[in-house]
Amino acid sequence: MVATVTTPRLMVVGGGSLAELPAILQRLGLGHPLVVTDPYIAGSGILDRATALLNSAGIRWSVFSDTVPDPTTAVVETGTRILAEGGFDSLVAIGGGSSIDTAKAMSVLAANGGAMREYKVPAEIPKTGPPLIAIPTTAGTGSEVTRFTVITDTETDEKMLIAGLACCPLAALVDYELTLSMPLRLTADTGLDSLTHAIEAYVSRRAHPFTDGLAKNAMSLIARHIRTACAEPGNRAAREAMMLGATTAGMAFSNSSVCLVHGMSRPIGAFFHVPHGLSNAMLLPEITAFSVPAALERYADCARAMGVAEEDEGSQAAVARLLDELRRLNEDLQVPTPRAWGIDAGRYEELLPLMASQALGSGSPANNPRIPTSDEIVELYRRVYR
Ligand SMILES: [Fe+2]
Repeated sequence: MVATVTTPRLMVVGGGSLAELPAILQRLGLGHPLVVTDPYIAGSGILDRATALLNSAGIRWSVFSDTVPDPTTAVVETGTRILAEGGFDSLVAIGGGSSIDTAKAMSVLAANGGAMREYKVPAEIPKTGPPLIAIPTTAGTGSEVTRFTVITDTETDEKMLIAGLACCPLAALVDYELTLSMPLRLTADTGLDSLTHAIEAYVSRRAHPFTDGLAKNAMSLIARHIRTACAEPGNRAAREAMMLGATTAGMAFSNSSVCLVHGMSRPIGAFFHVPHGLSNAMLLPEITAFSVPAALERYADCARAMGVAEEDEGSQAAVARLLDELRRLNEDLQVPTPRAWGIDAGRYEELLPLMASQALGSGSPANNPRIPTSDEIVELYRRVYR
């Protein structure tokens, strides 16, 4: 099997690495970035630190700080107009997955024109746009290293997956110190998203030896540190491990794929505005139980990598421990069911056929070890609702 591996050209990783931002731009020959962020980061002091660094290096910049959670085509179009009119040579995204995904989509539209939905998977993106330096403030979506962006179509509420080299940042600046102030819920949700990336990257039909090592490394880091990062926000060792786990999980799934959990998670996010990591976590234990028979050994490896099964333990026993741990993690990190989150049972039931068709249409379920039918997806949605 021949694997194609896409990663940023440059990655700068470590506590305090935000200070390297001007040097990174200069090394890449870039001198006039549009900084893309959200109102929270703009008011948190993190944006001011970044722009002060740019000022002291004499780099001219402007800010677009109107990105939203679950970024929409409307916001991307506004950002693209600002990008086109300002004569910028690059983008610097600072924030969670939403800001980074917005900047990626702006770059795609700036170079190719048209509407975002023209580029949704499996469409190809003809041209690579202005380069992006991605600085994550969560640990995380891994978007700083992936060749994906997810944008919600304002007209249809569909969460569209857009993929290609044009969506991969030129550089990633990964500074775990930016996550020290993340609140508990965000730490838990984004950490569970990373864990889902690592597991799905490893069990995917498109996994290969290059992604396997990254995925197992990510699982090991995240599973051992997620509870501490939630309980002790200032614990630097736990924050560093979670950030490394999130970025390596991103490299893993960007080069293999995500699977059924992400396929089913996007419609829950789109229709009911459940945060992405939370909707993954609602699904992860049940989808894993559904998928295990098709990839027993791979799931047993996940249990071993996460440290919940012994290296020499049989695969059946290891997988039982994995399922146990995923359910316990949801309990410990207070992940609600869709019902407990407040999703109306009637509306949920009514939307299930459309959600199943959008899940299948995204292509992600086809990478799952056990490929579900549309009816099975509907049944799984019912099973997790509770
Ligand atoms: Fe994700």
